[in-house]
Amino acid sequence: AGAGAAGAIRPHRVAQSMTSPATPTPDTPDSPELKATVTVSIDGTEIEAQPNELLIAAAERTGTYIPRFCYHSRMKPVGMCRMCLVNVEGPRGTSMQASCMLTCSEGMTVDTKAPDVKKAQDGVLEFLLANHPLDCPVCDKGGECPLQDQTLAFGPGETRYVEEKRHFEKPIEISPLVQLDRERCVLCDRCTRFSKDVADDPLIHFQSRGNTTEVNTFPDHPFSSYFSGNTVQICPVGALTATPYRFKARPWDLEQVESTCTSCSVGCRVAVQSSDDKLTRYLGLDAEPTNHGWMCDKGRFDFEALNSDSRFTDPRVDGATVSWGEALQRVAGEINASKPERVAIIGGARLANEDQYAWAKLARAVIGTDNIDAQLGDGLPAEAVLGVPRASIDEACAADTVVLLAPDLKEELPVLYLRLREAVVDRGLNVVEIAPQPTSFTDLAEVHIGYRTGDAAAVAQALTAKGNVPEVAGIDAATVQSARALLSGNVVVIAGRQSLAETGQGIADAVGILAKASNARFLPALRRSNVLGALDMGLAPGVLPGRVSLEDGSRWFEQGWGSCVSKKGLDTTAILRAASAGEIDVLMLIGADPIADFPDRELATAALERVATIVALDTHPNRSNTHARVVLPATAYAERPGTTTNIEGRITRLGQKVTAPGVAWPEWTVAAELATHLGSGLGVDTLEAIWNEIETLAPSHRGITTEVLESKEHRDGVVAPFAGAATTVGNQRPHGIVPPPITYGVTDPHPLAPVEGYSVRLVSSRKLYDQGTLVQRSPHLAGLVAPSTLRVHPTTLSQLGVISGGRVRLRNGRGDLVVDAIADERVPRTNAVLPFNLTEDGGASVFIDATQPVTNVRVETP
Ligand code: SF4
Ligand code: FES
Repeated sequence: AGAGAAGAIRPHRVAQSMTSPATPTPDTPDSPELKATVTVSIDGTEIEAQPNELLIAAAERTGTYIPRFCYHSRMKPVGMCRMCLVNVEGPRGTSMQASCMLTCSEGMTVDTKAPDVKKAQDGVLEFLLANHPLDCPVCDKGGECPLQDQTLAFGPGETRYVEEKRHFEKPIEISPLVQLDRERCVLCDRCTRFSKDVADDPLIHFQSRGNTTEVNTFPDHPFSSYFSGNTVQICPVGALTATPYRFKARPWDLEQVESTCTSCSVGCRVAVQSSDDKLTRYLGLDAEPTNHGWMCDKGRFDFEALNSDSRFTDPRVDGATVSWGEALQRVAGEINASKPERVAIIGGARLANEDQYAWAKLARAVIGTDNIDAQLGDGLPAEAVLGVPRASIDEACAADTVVLLAPDLKEELPVLYLRLREAVVDRGLNVVEIAPQPTSFTDLAEVHIGYRTGDAAAVAQALTAKGNVPEVAGIDAATVQSARALLSGNVVVIAGRQSLAETGQGIADAVGILAKASNARFLPALRRSNVLGALDMGLAPGVLPGRVSLEDGSRWFEQGWGSCVSKKGLDTTAILRAASAGEIDVLMLIGADPIADFPDRELATAALERVATIVALDTHPNRSNTHARVVLPATAYAERPGTTTNIEGRITRLGQKVTAPGVAWPEWTVAAELATHLGSGLGVDTLEAIWNEIETLAPSHRGITTEVLESKEHRDGVVAPFAGAATTVGNQRPHGIVPPPITYGVTDPHPLAPVEGYSVRLVSSRKLYDQGTLVQRSPHLAGLVAPSTLRVHPTTLSQLGVISGGRVRLRNGRGDLVVDAIADERVPRTNAVLPFNLTEDGGASVFIDATQPVTNVRVETP
């Protein structure tokens, strides 16, 4: 035992708390060098500190660990537990003070080890243990419990209390993910502060007073927060435990590696833990540039899907289990029998960078096709993402104004929501939100522009135009003017696909207008885990690895690879259209489920039913790969090493923790072996060799060597292009892609059909929990999918004589659904909002025609 409690409390050094419990660890990791301005003496040693630095943090930064329960470096101090008392000499003598509530000042003299400090620590711990149940042998926290460890390191040897302890009914299931054992709680206020101050989900509170104070939720208000797992991680005792982990393992059974969460593209750094070669737990690591220790519950708990019995374990051809050699021979035979332009590849956004590069090379240099697209028609055109100046998350949080032209961040990029919310609340970041529906940021935005789907470019045009704009696309001039007033100084635009019922080109046009008319930088809000890596690695038609267009880079890659296509291929929409017209012979789905994820279910289904040979490389069965003749089992994250890229272009390392099931292979191996069966070979046969080739050939990745990525300094990743490294390859090699021409002066490009009085534009975006594989294959997440409810402006319902909560019928030329409708006056009157992929029947996807810029629907009485 010992003071390992330090690590157990803090998320960042989880690794050390598990493996070296004797040494307290620093609490302010990776923070920028602090500029020392005052001198403080701590236990006789002089240290330099900033005047506003908390004493507990300054002490820890310089090697003195002061015990604590309520202090957390990412939350405001409250001084609740008094465990951090130290002696401080001041003008009026020595006093005992809580070091988490005291900022450093010049000449301060501090004693953390004086006999009376030790006596106070003994007293605090004895009081806490007066009621703590000491059920350590059956408590999940036992073995990594700050109360346990700090009692051993700083507490009294024995207690004087013999009285009966408090008893509560236990455990209370305060959500499907979290259980509460109230008698273990030490009232530190961490969970309540996190929920209220960080997540803005004030659902867990202190109740009652004095000796009867307890932490709890209110009846009928379950702890349904997307961030509830963070409270389990930061609770310093076992009062809050996670249902998926409860009684599954003990800390000493666990092994772990550092990795990056790949459930979305924020790229939170995590500790992946396993027991007996099975994933058991994910913990957030405190990475300064990205997640600050936090995770969303989907990222924290969807590892359950990897443990699921439904995983693909062996290659199959026409339903029969075969060897890898037989399966790849079959795939190679089908490809050889087809013309290259009749072969297409969809998917790859969930792959590691190295896999993506291998597939990009296989397509362009071996098969000879550019029909390859990692986005499933649900993102933005590659050129729009790659062709604009990029910003980091920190830069967005430090900007004067952020323009949110993005989907609901809480639903799609949850930890980016936390980071940005903190910037708004703590430092007054201005947010201008341009959205076709209210989002979790609407109430935080200085200006919210609710626009009719299809009008984003017109709004962007109005915001950047010179002179007065009386009104644009139904938005009043005053709103436009107030937004304009905020668009000076340092502006970051967070841009992503806001509705799957509108093509990505609408947002791309708006991005182009904002890029051209301002000095703004852009942070892409594309949610698929490694979609930015996929674009960097060339998994988009006309885009080669390293952010180089096919036009500019094909000769360079021809030299590097020995062969490279020169004609631009098809994106996913065009591939599916060609497939449904019988123009594709071999369609490879690499970690893709177009029937569930492509906005237009009718087109995706028609395409998959028509293609002769579908090859699916995947982890689990899904609606699309049931159409596959050849199924190849793939490894998932935590089952293979590699690298991934987040929304900033930050490249971080993935850690392998467990063995993949059956004979599943990493996707790069499949590409390399398939190339061999095609009679060519990829010329790279290890992960390191692939990365070296990326570093050599991909201009944006120059200088990002394996050594750089493995260095401690870059533990939290490197943003491409790497500062200081040459970013062009050869003097004739252009870098970057010029965005496509922008449509200017758009005011109403897609008018409503005039005859339909109640016709509205459909807005459809994703929720955190949906019918996707990771959620549905994770038993504790699958039940969290919300009902699919339509939200419309109250006038839409009153015109129909339907009350809020009543049923309405949605109909257009493609689909017909009866759904519950809720009135929401923040939804523009012109729009109707129906979430995507919440129901097996396809929901909004049955209405969407991917070839049309927007989707109109009628709202009727059922
Ligand atoms: Fe602190 Fe845990 Fe109690 Fe919450 S439940 S107040 S985190 S001890
Ligand atoms: Fe200072 Fe709790 S850590 S009072």
